[in-house]
Amino acid sequence: MKEYKMFIDGKWVAASNGSVFLVTNPATGEVLGSVPNGCNSDAKNSIEAADKAFKLWSKTTANVRSELLKKWFELIVSHKKEIAKIMTSEQGKPLQEAEAEVMYAASFVEWYAEEAKRVYGETIPAWKTDKRILVTKQPVGVVGAITPWNFPAAMITRKLAPALASGCTVVAKPAPQTPLTAIKLFELLEKAGFPNGVANLVTGNAEEIGAALMDDKRVRKITFTGSTDVGKKLMAQASNSVKRLSLELGGHAPFIVFDDADLDKAVEGALASKFRNCGQTCIASNRFYVHEKIFDTFIVKLKSMLTGLKVGNGTEEGIDLGPVIDKKSYEKISRHIEDAVARGGEVLLGGSGFHGSEVEDAGYFFYPTILSNLTEDMLIMNEETFGPIIPVIPFKTEEEVVKSANNTNYGLAAYVYTNSLSRGIKISEALEYGIVGLNDGAPSTAQTPFGGFKESGIGREGGHYGMEAFLEIKYVSIGL
Ligand code: SIN
Repeated sequence: MKEYKMFIDGKWVAASNGSVFLVTNPATGEVLGSVPNGCNSDAKNSIEAADKAFKLWSKTTANVRSELLKKWFELIVSHKKEIAKIMTSEQGKPLQEAEAEVMYAASFVEWYAEEAKRVYGETIPAWKTDKRILVTKQPVGVVGAITPWNFPAAMITRKLAPALASGCTVVAKPAPQTPLTAIKLFELLEKAGFPNGVANLVTGNAEEIGAALMDDKRVRKITFTGSTDVGKKLMAQASNSVKRLSLELGGHAPFIVFDDADLDKAVEGALASKFRNCGQTCIASNRFYVHEKIFDTFIVKLKSMLTGLKVGNGTEEGIDLGPVIDKKSYEKISRHIEDAVARGGEVLLGGSGFHGSEVEDAGYFFYPTILSNLTEDMLIMNEETFGPIIPVIPFKTEEEVVKSANNTNYGLAAYVYTNSLSRGIKISEALEYGIVGLNDGAPSTAQTPFGGFKESGIGREGGHYGMEAFLEIKYVSIGL
């Protein structure tokens, strides 16, 4: 069995207590290797290394940081197929999707390599002739980056690239389900030539590593992608030392189709927003509101597109939907369907899945499913499903659909399909969401601000907004 190591202060090391955990393939249960089960003291060593490295790294020129990021970008791109294979084996998404994620991940590194050179300050007219006012930006310090299993590469680079570009140093903690992609990215980061301690990777015990990051005053910023529940806990813990926080949390995206929409485009958008990574994305549409005049036509078109989708092991040719990450996920999806059906919901397509492995916690697959006859109080209408289920609800008026769409504590992404420009703008403005896909089911890209309103998070990742998250503003008042 392959034994992996974690990366601390430029060295590949085992956990200080020697313990390991196993990483398995969610499609088959096959053991892929053992990974260090890092603990509190490993996290502390990483913080120590990052703090030491910060003193030099924060003083490097933007050009130096940019060049290193460019090398990392090139290495990621040239290892695209290898990284994608690792990702599919530990995460399950089909190979072609994994390759697309590697390129998405690389695009953050490329974008921030360029943006490193554009951290501008300001001069402000002074109130006295013998004064000058200067505003500069400085890296915030050591950053703790905690990443999820659903995008094992892109969530690492979306956090690390702007942090490193701005002059911060990082301790990254990947999800226990998917550390191998992170390890590969760090091998390439080492190859690119980043100085020791600038970027550290600690795998293992989430509670211990999390506590070490949250308790240490040298860690000035936490950037986290994951559930709203964990985000709330981190927020409470961050208050002790007033750590800066970027939180990209859960979502419950409405997907609204008006009667004047291009229906083929809307169905295409529905598939893109719902089935990417088998519905396991924070911006996956979770409630489909379709105008009553086109409701039946939309369902017919949707059904005909879904019937062709192939479910299975992501390494096999032609697979559209891989496994869900584990048994717990499968049970949640089933519960959402059962709850809907028990309360009068109707299954129009799919409605079930299968367990295709001898291993208890692996091999859980779900068929694309359409549900109708739904009410707003059902679980599926309120909780994030993280599976390939499309609940469709008819609506009559703009007011009614906006009210329903906003009736949630989440506010990450929403989608609107209409051919009326003025309606599109009005509805986009009325939706309480950080991201609106207007006739667009795939809004994610490196140069834009990704993040949510309400309980979907704090701050934005991506674009110049993502860089600001790692910078402190300093004002220097100069007496002449
Ligand atoms: C996520 O689901 O957290 C990220 C999705 C994306 O970047 O598009």
